[in-house]
Amino acid sequence: LDNGLARTPPMGWNDWNSFGCDVGESLIRQTADTMVSSGMAAAGYKYVNIDDCWSTRSRNADGDLVADPAKFPSGIKALADYVHSKGLKLGIYSSAGLTTCAGYPASLGNEQRDAALWASWGIDYLKYDNCGDHQGKNGQQRYTAMRDALAATGRPIVYSLCNWGEESVWTWGMSTGNLWRTTGDIQADWGSVTSILDQQVGLEAYSGPGGWNDPDMLEVGVGSMTATESRAHFSLWALLNAPLIAGNDIRSMSAETRTILTNTEVIAVNQDWGGKQGHKISDNGGLEVWRKPMSDDSVAVVLLNRGNSTATVSTTAAAIGLGSASSYSVRDLWAHTTGSSPGTISASVPAHGAQMYVVTGGGITEPTTSALKSLSSAR
Ligand code: DGJ
Repeated sequence: LDNGLARTPPMGWNDWNSFGCDVGESLIRQTADTMVSSGMAAAGYKYVNIDDCWSTRSRNADGDLVADPAKFPSGIKALADYVHSKGLKLGIYSSAGLTTCAGYPASLGNEQRDAALWASWGIDYLKYDNCGDHQGKNGQQRYTAMRDALAATGRPIVYSLCNWGEESVWTWGMSTGNLWRTTGDIQADWGSVTSILDQQVGLEAYSGPGGWNDPDMLEVGVGSMTATESRAHFSLWALLNAPLIAGNDIRSMSAETRTILTNTEVIAVNQDWGGKQGHKISDNGGLEVWRKPMSDDSVAVVLLNRGNSTATVSTTAAAIGLGSASSYSVRDLWAHTTGSSPGTISASVPAHGAQMYVVTGGGITEPTTSALKSLSSAR
């Protein structure tokens, strides 16, 4: 969406994956505090996002949404002020239907009123779900109505379409929102992560600065995800130019989880200004190679082992789109070491694990940096 926002994938946190409906102002305040004290803010995380269940069960006499006074006794405006005082931004949630998924009042037919209210509170990000009665309108109509209502407020508000990939949202996402969900909900287990990954194949053509395919929020450090699985999940979401929206309880995260979420070398791949989404180049019985062309003519690579035992995953500089050179530099984004290779990129990868590298040398054969530049200035 050409609203000047999300020129790189949005980064932040959302309460849903770990807290469901159990949201409230102390959680949001403490999370904002931790975002700063943990180093996440310094690593680029900015949005603290409230999901479903924040309002009362009905609108007030004026027709406005009301924050549940038991959950948000100080109100959302005061919360936004607090989050802003930390140098962060606050997100809210509604649905393009008559009710949210949890049955709270939502915004279909009240787009202008609700957008104006959120703007008056100082909201910076809207996640707009797909639940509730649609009143016979299709998704594109319902999501466009809120796009226009947000624009009419004059406040910069990142617009996140949560319609689960319906109506091939990627084909109209760029003109409607800053990010669009491509699938149903992620769960905190390896099977869910890989199933969502499979559904991203072929969507890379649709994303770019201002509008991103959203394979759903991170499950790093949540549920049954091991550290190895979390590293693979984070590597892949970074390579896909996915919004990096943490879904764990960051107030109590382990040092290991914090190290994963704040790996600035992996984040730099996600935030590369060229905004060219990565994609799969080979798939051999659960051993996969994914690559992303970077704007400095290097190529980011993920070697993924989906299998249940350690295996060697290999590719070559030519296969990832680099020109010929006598030697390539290979930066390991998890070990933080640099090696060199005559052309083979290969690693022993643990079960449910990934290695991630940036390979430099030979220049990118396709697409060129100048093509990326004109693509990004055309948007
Ligand atoms: C469905 C969405 O896909 C989830 O991310 C979450 O927002 C829930 N609805 C909330 O009810």
